[in-house]
Formats: sequence, structure tokens, C-alpha cells
Amino acid sequence: MRFDIVTLFPQIFSGYLSQSLLAKAIDRGLVEIHIHDLREWSTDLKHHKIDDRPYGGGPGMLICVEPVINCVEAVQKMSDTPGVVMLTTPQGDRLDQRGVEQYSQLNRIILLCGRYEGFDQRVIDILDPVEISIGDYVLNGGEVASMVLVDSTIRMIPGVLGDEQSSWDDSFSRGNRLLEFPQYTRPPSFRGHDVPEILLSGDHGKIADWRSKQAMEKTKRRRSDLLE
Ligand code: ADE
Repeated sequence: MRFDIVTLFPQIFSGYLSQSLLAKAIDRGLVEIHIHDLREWSTDLKHHKIDDRPYGGGPGMLICVEPVINCVEAVQKMSDTPGVVMLTTPQGDRLDQRGVEQYSQLNRIILLCGRYEGFDQRVIDILDPVEISIGDYVLNGGEVASMVLVDSTIRMIPGVLGDEQSSWDDSFSRGNRLLEFPQYTRPPSFRGHDVPEILLSGDHGKIADWRSKQAMEKTKRRRSDLLE
């Protein structure tokens, strides 16, 4: 799967891209990520400006239509698959696991990261992107939201996780509508907090029952909406 990320802050992605799971997926050829600096498509050759004041007045600056369209059109031509254009914005549809599963089936996503007060409306009218929000709060820009989208999507690509079962088992996925049950590792006792006896019993049937009961109780307590 190929991601093309269009951003004004390409450096934001460098640490994330070299992070272990993603770096491994890239190394193994399962995921390709290309970062494109929007400023390189500026029509202002001197200062590489890409934003301007809104017509009609108002606070902040808007990203201009021309560099964005030129950039996205050039990026689309970089591969035979045109790809689906997405825009990270607080005005978008809320990202959830169902969306993540759908996006992981795509061959290519071109992700536009918003900044400042937003884009000139014509960017949206011309590109008709899928607009995605990661929650009802406002970030300084769409870069973090884009990383969330990439991170959650690549988990679903076969082969990216060592064990195929692990993403199937994730909370909110098709294989599991429950929150995670509690897990423990050594030592068996720490500052008076003991590992539940049952997990040390070696009885796999009872352990499985205990885990599903714990997952169900936690879901009822915290996220009863998931059980509806
Ligand atoms: N850009 C700014 N805030 C955002 C959010 N909540 N989701 C996606 N993109 C954003």
C-alpha cells in the first residue's frame, strides 16, 4: 500500500517513519510512504509562500488553491494508481476502526494535511477529498491526524504485524467488539498487587472464560455503547 503525504512540515514525519513496526513494513515492501513538501509547489518563487488572507476578512491565513492542486496532480501522476485523496480536518467524518479496515483495502492514499485556518474552499471542490477527523478537538495541523490514519491502517495490512491474529483481535475490530482484558507478566506479586490466581493455574479453558468475562465487564463499565 502506498501513502503520499502532502504537508508543510515534512520533518514532522521523520521520527515516526523510522519507528519499528512502520520501518519494518517499509523495509519488507508492504508499505511505501512518500512525503511531499507543499511549499515546493508555491507560485511565489522568492518566499515560497503558500497562504494568503481570506477574502471578506477574518482571522488567520488560508492555504491557496493553486499550489495544492498543482502538487496533488503531480503526486497523482507519480504512480499508475491514481489513489484516493483524503484530507485531515476537524470537519471530517470521525475515523473509527470500520473506516480503518476499509482504507486498508486501498492500494494508495494521498493524504493532505491541513494547517492554519484551512484551505481555500476550491481545494475541496476540485479534489473532492474524503475528509477525516480523528476526534472533536482541534489540532495545530493535520500531520498528527495523518500519522494516526497511517498507523491504524497499516496494522490491518496482511503481514505487517508478526501474528495475523493480532489485528483481528484488536478492540473495535470485526473480530472483537470488546475492550481488552487485563494482562500480567512477571513478577507474580508487586507491592501487594498479585496476579489473579487463575492466570497461574495453567487451565486454559478457565483462563479463556475469565478473560472474556473481564473484557465484557470492562466494556459494560466503560463503553456500553459498543455492546449496542
Ligand atoms: N486537524 C486539526 N484538527 C484535526 C482533527 N481533530 N482531526 C483531523 N485533522 C485535524
